[in-house]
Amino acid sequence: MKLDLIAGARPNFMKIGPIIKAIDLHNQNNTGQKIEYRLIHTGQHYDQNMSQSFFEQLDIPHPHINLGAGSGTQAVQTAHIMTGYEKALAEWMPDICIVVGDVNSTMACSIVARKAGAKVAHVEGGIRSGDWTMPEEINRIVTDSITNYFFTTSEEANKNLVKEGHDKSQIFYVGNTMIDSLLGHLNKLKKPDFFDEQLHGDNYLVLTLHRPSNVDDPEKLTQILNTISASANGTQVLFPVHPRTRKMMESLPGQYQNMILVEPLPYLEFIYVVSNSIGVITDSGGITEETSVMNIPCITLRTTTERPETIRLGTNELVPDINDAPSLIQRMISGQWKKAQLIPFWEGKAAERIVDILSQLSIPANRK
Ligand code: UD1
Repeated sequence: MKLDLIAGARPNFMKIGPIIKAIDLHNQNNTGQKIEYRLIHTGQHYDQNMSQSFFEQLDIPHPHINLGAGSGTQAVQTAHIMTGYEKALAEWMPDICIVVGDVNSTMACSIVARKAGAKVAHVEGGIRSGDWTMPEEINRIVTDSITNYFFTTSEEANKNLVKEGHDKSQIFYVGNTMIDSLLGHLNKLKKPDFFDEQLHGDNYLVLTLHRPSNVDDPEKLTQILNTISASANGTQVLFPVHPRTRKMMESLPGQYQNMILVEPLPYLEFIYVVSNSIGVITDSGGITEETSVMNIPCITLRTTTERPETIRLGTNELVPDINDAPSLIQRMISGQWKKAQLIPFWEGKAAERIVDILSQLSIPANRK
C-alpha cells in the first residue's frame, strides 16, 4: 500500500507525527505487505518556530517533498499547494492521501488527490463549528465531502458525518492523534530559557490568539488585550505571539500590564508552560484538547467550537463576548473550575488504530 501523508501548518505536525511512528512500527513488526509512504510538507508554515522546531522535537522525519507554498491570501496559498501537489502526484501515485485537521493544506491536497484518482483519508474528519466565517469550517466541509475514510476524534463528529449522508462503514472512531503526541511527550517537556527570569513562579496565565476574527481587526484585538490584562489584575499573562498577531500588534500603540510577550514556542516548551499554568485563554481548537487532557482550565474566545467534547467532558468554557471574560478569568485565577473527565479513546493509541485499519483496507481493488 502506498500513502501520501500531508502536513502543512503547525497544528498538523503533532497529528501526523504519531501516524508515521505507527507506520514504521507496523512495517517492523509485520512480515506481510509493507506500507510505503511519502511525507509531504506543503510549506504553508515555514518559520523555524512554526515548523522546523516541531519536526525536531517530535522526531518527525525530514519530509520527502516540501512544496514551498508559503503565505498568501486564502486563494493564493491554496492554489500554490494544489499546483505543487499535482506535480508531486505525477511522480508517485499513492493509493491513499492522508490529510489531517482543517488547514488550507488539508483541503487543497484532498481535492488534488481525489481528482487524480487516489482515495482520501481525513484524520479528524467530521468536526463542525457551524461557523461559516471560519476558513477552517469551509476546509472541513469541502474535505469531508470528498473523503473516503474518516478517522474521527469524537462521538459528535461521527453524528455530523452520518447526518451529512456518509455511510457508517466509512467512519472509524479512533481517538485523537494530537493527544497521542501529547501523552508521548509529557515526560520530555522543556522549561523555556526565559521561564525563571520572567515569570514569578507558577502563578501565571497563558494566552494565545491567532484567529482572523480576533486579530485582524485592530480595535477588537486592542479590546481583547486590554480586557485580559485588566482582568488578570496583577497575575502575569504569558503570551507567545503568533506571526499573524504580531504583524497586527506592531501597528498598535498599546502597552499591556503584566503581559509577557514571547515568540511562538516550540512544542515541548509550550506544553511545559501550559501544564504549569493556572489556566489558558485561547482561540485555538487544538489547545482546548490538550488542556482538557492535562486538566488545565481553558477559556476559548470564540462564539462556537467544533470540539464540544472539550466543554462537555473537558476543561473548556466558551466566551463568545469579550465583555464576559473578566468574571471567568477571575474564577480561573481563584481556582474554581470544573475538573476534566476522560474523553473516550483519547489515551494515546489513535495512530495505532488508524494504521491497523489502513493495513486491512483492500485498496487496489477499490481504486479507480
Ligand atoms: C493557519 C490555519 C489555522 C491554524 C493555524 C495555526 C488555515 C486557513 N489556517 O492559520 O487553522 O490554526 O495555521 O497557526 O489554514 N506566517 C509566518 N511564518 C510562518 C507561517 C505564517 O510569518 O511560518 C505569517 C504569514 O505572514 C502569514 C500569516 O502568518 O500570512 C498567517 O499564516 P497562514 O498559514 O495563512 O494562517 P494562520 O493564521 O497561521
